[in-house]
Amino acid sequence: MDASQSPSFFAALPELAVQFGTPTYAYDWATLRERATTLRAAFPDAQVRYAIKANPNVNLLERLKSEFEFGFDAVSGGEVHRALYAGTPGPDIVLNGPGKLTADFALAHEVQATLVLDSHDEVHRAARHAPGARVLIRVNPELQVGTHDHLATGNGSAKFGVLLKDVPEVYLKARKVGLNVIGLHVHIGSSIDNPEDFTQAFAKIQNLASSVGPVEVLDIGGGFGLTLDLHALGQKATRLAQAFQAELWIEPGRYLVADAGILLTRIVGLKRTHRPFVICDASMTELLRPMLYGSRHAVLPLRERHAPPSVWDLAGSACEAGDVLARDITLHEPVEGDLLVIAQAGAYGASMASNYLTRLRPAEAVWDGVQWVQWRRRDILSDLLAAELAAAPAVGAHHD
Ligand code: LLP
Repeated sequence: MDASQSPSFFAALPELAVQFGTPTYAYDWATLRERATTLRAAFPDAQVRYAIKANPNVNLLERLKSEFEFGFDAVSGGEVHRALYAGTPGPDIVLNGPGKLTADFALAHEVQATLVLDSHDEVHRAARHAPGARVLIRVNPELQVGTHDHLATGNGSAKFGVLLKDVPEVYLKARKVGLNVIGLHVHIGSSIDNPEDFTQAFAKIQNLASSVGPVEVLDIGGGFGLTLDLHALGQKATRLAQAFQAELWIEPGRYLVADAGILLTRIVGLKRTHRPFVICDASMTELLRPMLYGSRHAVLPLRERHAPPSVWDLAGSACEAGDVLARDITLHEPVEGDLLVIAQAGAYGASMASNYLTRLRPAEAVWDGVQWVQWRRRDILSDLLAAELAAAPAVGAHHD
């Protein structure tokens, strides 16, 4: 189906459906290992800080830490705790984000994580709540890049980072207030497939060399599109870091995990309005990306039928008009009960799942080449109700 995944992974999917039901996220460890190896080869001298948000499952974090010695990029106190739970030393954690809470600053300070400061205002807040902390200054390179608007973080109108003209002043200010400023950070967006976008961002960063103090660390963020020539990108990034005599840090998320994961779903029915719909038991609550970004995920039947092809839209089972997971897919006589694979769902799939409509977030499992290992059980209703029942008297309770 997808040459990057092991054949045994696909052969084992029917068994996964029996063991864990559907919809369920399935990951192929062999694919993940291959991506991690490619990444290491392309960036031989870089420190990898995996972007937890792409897939925050602690079992995944534990393995990324123990097998590849990755550090982590967190964007909340919760994600810092996940990294710690996975056994990561605090100094191997980077805390990003445009609006860190006071408690996030304090936590980063306590565990000696590196803070990526997003504004002039954050310099002052860091000085107050994380005095002397190691910090990077995030640069907004004011660059239009070829990705969905919601995924572009480095254009001048985005809320992220410090504009180029303000970087020297913010850098100096951070030193003055006693922070340990170790370098610069830039992240231009996600799903960036045009290498020119990175080339331009790097050129803008290089121009800053003469106007800021010593740069020990250059963090180029993540956003590496799945079709990028990673080797060429690695060479460019390495040259940029060398120009600063800096250590290179990278924060890949999607590149590592997207292709390693699929969402397994089952057809619950067929219907026609003015369009032909296959309806499945997954929906926007398990995979939000098609609805949020118009992103396209290939959909493949697990078992091919010898029947004429027909074209369908794949509708989710949520009660929302926009809940269509894919348009114009070709299937051969789909029937209720058939299993479908929704591809490239390992990144920002499970991590963006929600309980909207009191739907239960799916199970997750990894294929280790021999067997399925459960990484998460499906929610049960009491998980969802627990917080509400703790806050209010149970329905029907009497008070004398
Ligand atoms: N570093 C920073 C500071 C980030 O904000 C992000 C992603 C990354 C690294 C990792 O980017 P990646 O390599 O995964 O592209 N929900 C969206 C993606 C949002 C990404 C936000 N920041 C999606 O489903 O495509």
